[in-house]
Amino acid sequence: MTGSEKSSAILARKGGRPIAAITAYDYPTARLLDEGGADVLLVGDSLGMVVLGFPDTTHVTLEHMLHHLAAVARAKPAALIVGDLPIHTYDTPEQALATSRALVAAGADAVKLEGGVSQAETIRTLVAAGIPVCGHLGMLPQSVLEEGGYKKKGKTPAQREALLADARAVAAAGAFATVLESVVPAVASEVTAAVSIPTIGIGCGETTCDGEVTVVSDLVGSYPWFVPPFARVEADVAGEIRKATRAYIDRVHSSSSDH
Ligand code: KIV
Repeated sequence: MTGSEKSSAILARKGGRPIAAITAYDYPTARLLDEGGADVLLVGDSLGMVVLGFPDTTHVTLEHMLHHLAAVARAKPAALIVGDLPIHTYDTPEQALATSRALVAAGADAVKLEGGVSQAETIRTLVAAGIPVCGHLGMLPQSVLEEGGYKKKGKTPAQREALLADARAVAAAGAFATVLESVVPAVASEVTAAVSIPTIGIGCGETTCDGEVTVVSDLVGSYPWFVPPFARVEADVAGEIRKATRAYIDRVHSSSSDH
């Protein structure tokens, strides 16, 4: 299936079988998640924190994204591959188009960008060029420095109105879906009901959106130094790595050499 066909299939899931999206940043993880049946593999700029060791996503460059997208694409997943547009690579519609074309050339089926009303023209430009776009609304990680931290959204009437306007703008501009991040559950449900495209939630409560997205390291427990409070951790990969490392070190240190 082409990227457009895969993204249309995700759009058609609105109100139907919930969409399961997971981040992926490398070849083996992408293969495993795809074998597990993920609907969407998001090469998210959370890459910056959970793989590259930066404090937030504002350090992620286009070069980082291209490197990791290409690795995920080599897994040839059945899932839709969505690549994040890194900060300041989509400040104008023209720049967004050039960046998105580079992500698609590296293997993305679709791109994701942060912002609503303010990004409507950019979304229209990308969609007109045949590039499927996923929105990202609510808490916007690329704005963490301006906002002075990660703040829950939808708490005030003004935020609720803004979220509804943003979601309607993103849908009207032609996005096939939008991520909703850290939005209070009642408002996430309202936004989901207000738009014709699927909402994919993270930190919005369960069953408030048309699907969920999780950061893979939160799911499998491979980044134990920070786990968001809403994460549903299903494995202890960090514990297994520590155990295997201890077993290996003990075996090597206790072996006697005969030369
Ligand atoms: O980069 C990312 O992992 C994301 C998710 C949090 C939705 O954008």
